[in-house]
Amino acid sequence: MATVGLGYVGLPLALTISEAGFSTTGVDLNSSRVKAINAGEKVISYFPEDRIRNAVGGGRFRASDEASVLAESDIILICVPTPLSAKREPDLSYVVKAVETIAQWLRPGQLVVLESTVWPGATTTVVQPILERGGLRAGEDFFLGFSPEREDPGNETFSTRSIPKIVGADDARSRELLDQFYAHIVTETVPVSSSATAEAVKLVENSFRTVNIALVNEMKVAMDAMGVDIWEVVKAAATKPFGYMPFYPGPGIGGDCIPVSPVYLSWRAKDVGSSVPIIDLARTNNDNAPDLIASRVATELTRQSGLTVEGARVLIVGIAYKKDVEDTRESPALAILNRLENMGAACDYHDPYFPVLPLTRDHPDLAGRKSVELGEKVLQGYDAVVVATDHRNVDYALIARTARLVLDTRNVFSSMNVAVTGGKLTKI
Ligand SMILES: NC(=O)c1ccc[n+]([C@@H]2O[C@H](COP(=O)([O-])OP(=O)(O)OC[C@H]3O[C@@H](n4cnc5c(N)ncnc54)[C@H](O)[C@@H]3O)[C@@H](O)[C@H]2O)c1
Repeated sequence: MATVGLGYVGLPLALTISEAGFSTTGVDLNSSRVKAINAGEKVISYFPEDRIRNAVGGGRFRASDEASVLAESDIILICVPTPLSAKREPDLSYVVKAVETIAQWLRPGQLVVLESTVWPGATTTVVQPILERGGLRAGEDFFLGFSPEREDPGNETFSTRSIPKIVGADDARSRELLDQFYAHIVTETVPVSSSATAEAVKLVENSFRTVNIALVNEMKVAMDAMGVDIWEVVKAAATKPFGYMPFYPGPGIGGDCIPVSPVYLSWRAKDVGSSVPIIDLARTNNDNAPDLIASRVATELTRQSGLTVEGARVLIVGIAYKKDVEDTRESPALAILNRLENMGAACDYHDPYFPVLPLTRDHPDLAGRKSVELGEKVLQGYDAVVVATDHRNVDYALIARTARLVLDTRNVFSSMNVAVTGGKLTKI
């Protein structure tokens, strides 16, 4: 068994497979990550302390930067990044490179499964021809399919094992093999009729989230104008046992998944002469969300403190794209910080997961900034504290007691039962 790519998705998957009893090798180009994993280091913050150490120590799992190990594997799963290009179009270059490497070691009888998010048709039209270059045929000599990752980093309720697994392939034998394999790993498999169907499932799920997040953020602004608290509305609406599913307002969307999948869907729709205007509008609204929050910060500084944003000191709390994870990819918090600074504010951030900001594709100029330690004096030095991400390990009581103006994009004070007195809290 081998997984190619040991990131947020590939590593939990590889560990789950080895925990199910398969001898598993995780292949990754990043040698320092390979070294850290083999040394039993935690590498993903929300993992139990000893999960990697136990897997490595148990002898069923190891990491490697040597592609030659692929020759020994009966099953190869691909979990490499599928980001957007500089032109904000699907970038399958990591998949192509990984598949070209696999093709060098491909032998009869192997099962190859793509797990990275791609557009419908990519496994058949991009992956399969590369693997067949050496003369072996998919569905006859080797087997091929697609099974989307549904990992939700940091989710304590659903793990790789307990999330039902969609399995799709273009021929019956490949589909059967995929289904048999994953049935050992996860509690439920959901076979579908083709790779393209399985690829589409992932894009539909993420586009559904994209549209609903845009919808609830739109309603937040309208409810606010009506003097109604959207969080209270959503909480009450969520009691309806059918026909409604809660989505919560926030400062925008981030991560490597939700902002990216709808672009893949939209691109492919155009490619085949169709279109997805509702999804495209939701994307635009989500892309604009951080700017709206920054403008709202400026408005509240003036309305509540008589200050202009120019020259104001603002602390952003939570810089990761979602709570309790150490991931800044496409984080709206970075966009808010950047926007406020362009408006003339002086910004700092506090995030327990990021003592120092890493290099990001969207905001490379912010790399190297340091997280500010929270303290009474420090907090009093800011004109506004903006909660962009609701990590649980932040001292909200200290912020509530000390900050001059608190602007909360996540309803965190309410949900954590932290009282903010003196009318200085505004949900934005
Ligand atoms: N992170 C999520 O929440 C999430 C959830 C569901 C699906 N996905 C999808 O899963 C896929 C992987 O995402 P991720 O978050 O794990 O990415 P990641 O960036 O965390 O990890 C990818 C890993 O692949 C390695 N890699 C890249 N090219 C390689 C190659 N040719 N050979 C070996 N290793 C290589 C990188 O070094 C990196 O360690 C993407 O398609 C993503 O859209 C991600």
